[in-house]
Order: sequence, then structure tokens, then C-alpha cells
Amino acid sequence: MRNKVTKAIFPVAGLGTRFLPATKSVPKEIMTLVDRPLIQYAIDEARAAGIKEFIFVTSRGKGALEDYFDHAPQLENELRKKGKDELLEILKNTNMDSGAIAYLRQHKALGLGHAVWCARRLIGNEAFAVILPDDVIAAEKPCLQQMVEAFEETPGSMVAAMEVPSDKASSYGILDINEDKGAMVSVKGMVEKPKAGTQPSNLAVIGRYILTPDVLKNLNKMKSGAGGEIQLTDAIAEEIREGRPVYGHRFAGQRFDCGSKAGFLQATVAFGLSRDDLRDDLHTYLTEIMASEKAAQ
Ligand code: G1P
Repeated sequence: MRNKVTKAIFPVAGLGTRFLPATKSVPKEIMTLVDRPLIQYAIDEARAAGIKEFIFVTSRGKGALEDYFDHAPQLENELRKKGKDELLEILKNTNMDSGAIAYLRQHKALGLGHAVWCARRLIGNEAFAVILPDDVIAAEKPCLQQMVEAFEETPGSMVAAMEVPSDKASSYGILDINEDKGAMVSVKGMVEKPKAGTQPSNLAVIGRYILTPDVLKNLNKMKSGAGGEIQLTDAIAEEIREGRPVYGHRFAGQRFDCGSKAGFLQATVAFGLSRDDLRDDLHTYLTEIMASEKAAQ
């Protein structure tokens, strides 16, 4: 098995019901944060980490995702004719080399572990990344790149990790810590969505993984776990039981839960404020509404 990570799986089969009615006709991964769809943030992060092959696990109704990464000759010609070079440059980031992107369907919504398992033949016998596009991470060095660098030093399956408040732990995969070395945490167990009060720590799995191919063998067993779904967390926990190393990586950066409306709005404000072309207007507006809310109290 090589230590180089060049393939990433993007599980994008979910229905996005939390964003209905928007997601009735638009895949949630196409919803825009400022002016780029969520999936573009995930792809940019993967590219920065050296990923060369992008595997999308999709479902019915996700056609807009395939179109998004396709060339758009008519649009490009129009922009070229009008001399809109800046916009052409922006579009370039959405293009994928032929053969660099693969789409396969998860025919039944059996869980995240099952979605990853669907891509097993495209992964083969090498370490691979998994990116959940709902988790958007603002960081100076992109999160997956931080993890790839850590993985090259310390091989073994690795999940992005972040402290969460105790009353939120039941929404996440939670790590049972063996040895806490700061950024790297060696893990002796993992539990998906523990019942309130039973979590082994407050260190939660965030949607970035680097996994060894053994995890796919564990997924082959098709055991269902929390919520009756085949959980990726359980397959990684199985690794630990079989004696292989698993780490949590406390990344540097801020994570936004764009799978929730509040998280999406927070990310919109944060990314807006980080943009030179929007900061001033947005800042003025936010200051004004804060002041008028205070005055009304
Ligand atoms: C998934 C994973 C969970 C992880 C979370 C991070 O859960 O199963 O282990 O903590 O993503 O966002 P989901 O949010 O899809 O229920």
C-alpha cells in the first residue's frame, strides 16, 4: 500500500431534506456559499491536498452536480467574445480533466459507510480520503492538506477531530482517546452518535478522513449500526479492534456545519466577511442591525 493519497470519495447521495423546499430540485451540494456551490469548496480543498481522482457517490436527482463539473462551451465562448477573462478564469476551476472524475450511484440510502463501500472498486488497495461537503472548513492550510501531511509522518487511518459541547456529542462520531498528543490523538475506540451522557469524550469526528483500504474490508461485512445505517465510524472502530492504528487529527481552522440552516448562515457571513469585495458592505450592514437590535431591547 502506498502512503500517497491521490483519491478522494465525496458522498453526495443524501436528499438534503433539511433544506426543503430548495433541495426539491437543487442538490444541496450545489447550494451556494457566497458565490460558489458547497461542492466547489470540497474540491478545492481536495486539490490543495494533492488529490488527483475525485469519486462522487451520488443518487437520483444529482444531475446538476455532473453538469457543474462539465465544460460549458457556449458560455465560455460568450465570455471570450465579450473579453470577460476574469469570469473565464473563475470557470476554469470548475472544470475537471477527462477521467479525473467518476460518478457512481448508491442505489439505496443505507448510510455513509455503505456510500464509501460503493466506491471500493475505484479505490483498490491504496489509502484514500473521504470528504463530506456539508462540513466546510475555513483554514489557512486546508484541513485535508494538514491531514495528508500528518498521514505521511504517521500512517494509519485518520479522522479530522474537533471538541464539541457535551450536549451536542450525540450528533457525531465520538473518539475514545488512548493518548492525547495535542494535534494527534491516538484512538482506542469510536462510537457513532452515542446516547446523551454516554460519550467517551467530547472529541468529535468532522467530515474529513484518510483511510487505509482495510476499512473497505470491514465495510464488506455490512453490519448496521446507529440509526439502522451502515456507519463508517463502525468500520474504522473495527480497525482498532483488529490492532491497526487510528488517529484523530485536531485540525487548525474553523468548521461550519453547512448541513444545518444555522451553520450555513454562519458560514455565509464568515466567508462574506473574508472577501475583499464584500467585507465593507457586509460589515456595515451587520453593525447596523446589531445596533438597531440593541436599541430595541
Ligand atoms: C457523519 C458521520 C459522523 C460525523 C459527522 C460529521 O454524520 O457519520 O461520524 O461526526 O458526519 O459531520 P452525519 O452528520 O452525516 O449524521
